[in-house]
Amino acid sequence: MTTETQDLRRAMARAAEEIDQALDILLPTEEGPEARLYAAMRYAAVGGGKRLRGFLVLEGARQFGVSRHAALRVAGAIEMLHAYSLVHDDLPAMDDDDLRRGKPTVHKAFDEATAILAGDALQTQAFLVLAQEDTHPDPAVRAELVRCLAQASGARGMCGGQMLDMLAEEGGQQLDEAAIGRLQTLKTGKLIEFSAEAGAVLGKAAASQRHALLGYGRDLGAAFQIADDLLDATATAEETGKRTGKDAEAGKATLVSLLGLERARLQADRLVDQAKSHLDGFGERADLLRMLADFVIERRN
Ligand code: IPE
Ligand code: IPE
Ligand code: MG
Ligand code: MG
Ligand code: MG
Repeated sequence: MTTETQDLRRAMARAAEEIDQALDILLPTEEGPEARLYAAMRYAAVGGGKRLRGFLVLEGARQFGVSRHAALRVAGAIEMLHAYSLVHDDLPAMDDDDLRRGKPTVHKAFDEATAILAGDALQTQAFLVLAQEDTHPDPAVRAELVRCLAQASGARGMCGGQMLDMLAEEGGQQLDEAAIGRLQTLKTGKLIEFSAEAGAVLGKAAASQRHALLGYGRDLGAAFQIADDLLDATATAEETGKRTGKDAEAGKATLVSLLGLERARLQADRLVDQAKSHLDGFGERADLLRMLADFVIERRN
């Protein structure tokens, strides 16, 4: 492992630990008659995952000297929203998966109704955290974070993309490259764009810098989903903590199914280079973001 990779791994591990501590504080504690809901929320969100989105928030915020406390609240919020998307993505009505982050999915460990509610409540908790005064003293900043996350996760973001993903599977017809690109931008890219941009919002960065981070997030998000699809085709459940080999079986529209492994990989490489080029105006402080772009396609989990 190179020193660069070690630096990134160390920084990501530290961020994951801090994000877990933040989530522990930001999520309701397991007590009262509805404790089952809180237990399912914690089961889904705490103690697992790569924390890529949270890490992006923290590193973006670090470029502008934002307090770690504020950045961790936003990192916690995006990880809650992401966890909700996974809980619902795994439901029998969607991808019907029984393994996530190396353990049974929420509807398996609890039940379907609890999984639906835990997803719903994780989503609203994310917006609650962004709206709370402790996240930023300026209400305009908080409103902007709420607006951006709503845009990224709703009809014209993640949910819209998930609809396209389900329709493509149902229809059984092969989408072309542009249509797959749009599907992936919506279902995965938008939340990653938000994560990359959020630090600039918190830090009231210049429009040009915010724009650069957004561009970085866009290309990184696209590369990230191609890597996820490559892993589905080439990795084991032990490596990824989720069942693999399911996309081809389900007839998912992916670049791997359209272009094959080799060309999909080349496309992801190209996107990673493009992602890094958006950071040309940033100094050494953005090195972890540059390394993260390489990590996204080299990862085996
Ligand atoms: C999985 O996301 C869902 C996709 C958008 C591909 P991650 O690979 O970031 O999942 P965790 O958070 O590390 O479990
Ligand atoms: C999920 O994409 C994207 C989400 C919005 C959750 P996938 O269905 O490919 O994610 P995995 O492979 O189950 O993690
Ligand atoms: Mg899916
Ligand atoms: Mg899935
Ligand atoms: Mg996948």
